Amino acid sequence: MVVAVAIALWGIHAAPASAEQRSLVDSITQEHQHGGPANFVLFGATGDLASRMLFPSLFELHRKGELPKDFRLVAASVDITSQRDFLRDLRTKVRDLGKVDTGSLEWKRFEKSIVGERVDFTDKKSVRALKTRLGGGESVFYLALPPAVFGSAVEALHDGGLVGRSGPAARNTLVLEKPFGRNLQEARSLGRKVAKLANEAKVLRMDHYLGKQAVLQLMALRFGSRQFEPMWNRDYIERVEIGAREQLDIQGRGSFYDQTGAMKDFVQGHLMQVLSIVAMDTPTEASELGQAKAAVVRKIKPIRPSATVRGQYQGYAQSTGVQKGSATETYVALRTEIGNPRWEGVPFVLESGKALAAKDSYVRVTFKKLEPSVARQLGVAADRPAQLVIRIDPQPSMELHSGQRSIPITAGSQLPVRAPYERLLLAAVEGNHSLFAKRGEVEASWEVLDPVERQWKQSGQRPITYAKGVARPRAATSLLPSRLLKQRLAPARFKVPRRPQTTPRRSKHQKLQRARVPARARLR
Ligand code: BG6
Repeated sequence: MVVAVAIALWGIHAAPASAEQRSLVDSITQEHQHGGPANFVLFGATGDLASRMLFPSLFELHRKGELPKDFRLVAASVDITSQRDFLRDLRTKVRDLGKVDTGSLEWKRFEKSIVGERVDFTDKKSVRALKTRLGGGESVFYLALPPAVFGSAVEALHDGGLVGRSGPAARNTLVLEKPFGRNLQEARSLGRKVAKLANEAKVLRMDHYLGKQAVLQLMALRFGSRQFEPMWNRDYIERVEIGAREQLDIQGRGSFYDQTGAMKDFVQGHLMQVLSIVAMDTPTEASELGQAKAAVVRKIKPIRPSATVRGQYQGYAQSTGVQKGSATETYVALRTEIGNPRWEGVPFVLESGKALAAKDSYVRVTFKKLEPSVARQLGVAADRPAQLVIRIDPQPSMELHSGQRSIPITAGSQLPVRAPYERLLLAAVEGNHSLFAKRGEVEASWEVLDPVERQWKQSGQRPITYAKGVARPRAATSLLPSRLLKQRLAPARFKVPRRPQTTPRRSKHQKLQRARVPARARLR
């Protein structure tokens, strides 16, 4: 009983069961691996993503002294005319975004490590000149480019001897930013082209959800927990919900978003990545992660149109860049099942939408019953309904709710706290490939979702309209049982219980452990 009370108050520590599990989690999350490349070439250096995310994240790594010693950052774009003008424009953009103090000494030092290069992919001479300037060392090429030019950019890099399947070019890394095609056909054709021209083992597909603190902690829980693995299946789990609701609307990205929609923008990449991590079998090695994720996605059963809800917020079609009368969805919910022995019969519900009440990205696992040893540890009845809630955003956390209790769960809490782009850029530089998507996963995800999009199109049905600021379109509640929905709409009720006076004091060791992780990101 004393043990049960202590656990309920201090939380479950999801400890690794074996040395193999510990080593798997370590190799997925290990940050410093091979010492880094000689060059990091950022194509699209004058673009929006570069100033919003990539330069501020690289600056953060530079400020923390985490980039390799002789790191050379080459900012490449066809629009660069001079080093001075490029740096001046970059300074203005990142300063106006309010992300970085560009007046600081650190920023000045960072600027010194940047070399601005005009590179024109349509001009062979220009790509060859870049190769000469990079010299013989290993390079990472990061393509922060519009998807329409991906194919030709990879061709130009290949023809210029910068990426390849053999020889020194095969040692270079190619990082691709999503979207990886806008449908199955495009994804396959891009996949084929990249596989023909580059060394697939060195191709990293960026999905920033794989760099989120809570997603890494989810992996630590999945692959390294004695308590949860035995009940991670249809015998114990009733349903799984994965969602990302945003308060922001399309925010001036009309022309991009209208061609994209919630399904391609969020479900195809971010949510399918999270689903695959929740549902996959544990791989034996980190290098098998991508295959294991693709394998479970391939088992997803066809999704019926009646198991989907599409919504569009009021006023969307009047936004700049959006076609009048557009049928693009800004909200989508869908229910599916995974046809394998572990998950047969367990519904997986996904939802994502814009202009909703609040930012809320989550994984919610509802148990039919708890595994008796876990229930004993918690001091609750094994047949009492329980939910494991992994909050990805706005504040990462993991909790097990059972009855009136909320039990915090610790897994992977020793991970350094980093913003997703910062983590993934470091992983690309350091050669940790576990946090990137592989070709097979991307194509498997399209295989599931492409037919749904085609059915929507064929039916000619328009998305339902919802008012900005609602929790979710009313029609979507049909995919969710009301008891669970009520809980989801009132997350504030699930508070960690107050610690009574009699609570045992924390040991010095426990205090030290907690102090190492900033409170905001601590998963308890
Ligand atoms: C991007 C989408 O991939 O993720 C955006 O293109 C979305 O539409 C963004 O707003 C959300 O990211 P986060 O990290 O805020 O959940």
